[in-house]
Amino acid sequence: MVIRPDIVYDAFQSVWEEQAKVIFLSPQGKTLTQKKIIDLSKEKHLILICGHYEGIDERVIEEIQPEEISIGDYVLTGGELPAMVLIDSVSRYVEGVLAEGSVEEESFSKNYLEYPQYTRPEIFRGRKVPEVLLSGHHENIRKWREEQALKRTKKKRPDLLK
Ligand SMILES: C[S@@+](CC[C@H](N)C(=O)[O-])C[C@H]1O[C@@H](n2cnc3c(N)ncnc32)[C@H](O)[C@@H]1O
Repeated sequence: MVIRPDIVYDAFQSVWEEQAKVIFLSPQGKTLTQKKIIDLSKEKHLILICGHYEGIDERVIEEIQPEEISIGDYVLTGGELPAMVLIDSVSRYVEGVLAEGSVEEESFSKNYLEYPQYTRPEIFRGRKVPEVLLSGHHENIRKWREEQALKRTKKKRPDLLK
């Protein structure tokens, strides 16, 4: 089964506006990255088109010319989950959604993975929270986090450092 072009076009027209950025969630698109997410968060209006079954009749894709975005090299049943992935990740960059500064040190924001996180209790099954984090010395904590971020990126995702 393939989704009809006229039905998709009518739905598209019902939400279209001049400044809209139109995206078709598709396994054939460019893979979504943090950089793309940040760019999309600056758009005024997003329209997301989701396929299902075999996909959407090609003529409406040619007519609308959306940007195609994939969430990874695998095939899902429909575009609903990819759309939710995009909405969730983009929303985090919209002012007021998260506390100020909370996305700046996260994984991928500077081509590094984030440093490890700790909370209470101070000792869990014999494992202690690193001493430096309890010291209250902000400069030492900052340096430690920077070192840890580099160390984990080298270990888990060396490709990000290239
Ligand atoms: C079963 S898929 C169609 C796959 C298509 N026949 C192909 O081989 O390229 C149905 C719909 O799911 C969505 N979809 C599936 N995998 C996706 C992915 N990795 N990223 C984004 N959307 C995806 C798309 O909207 C697609 O039109």
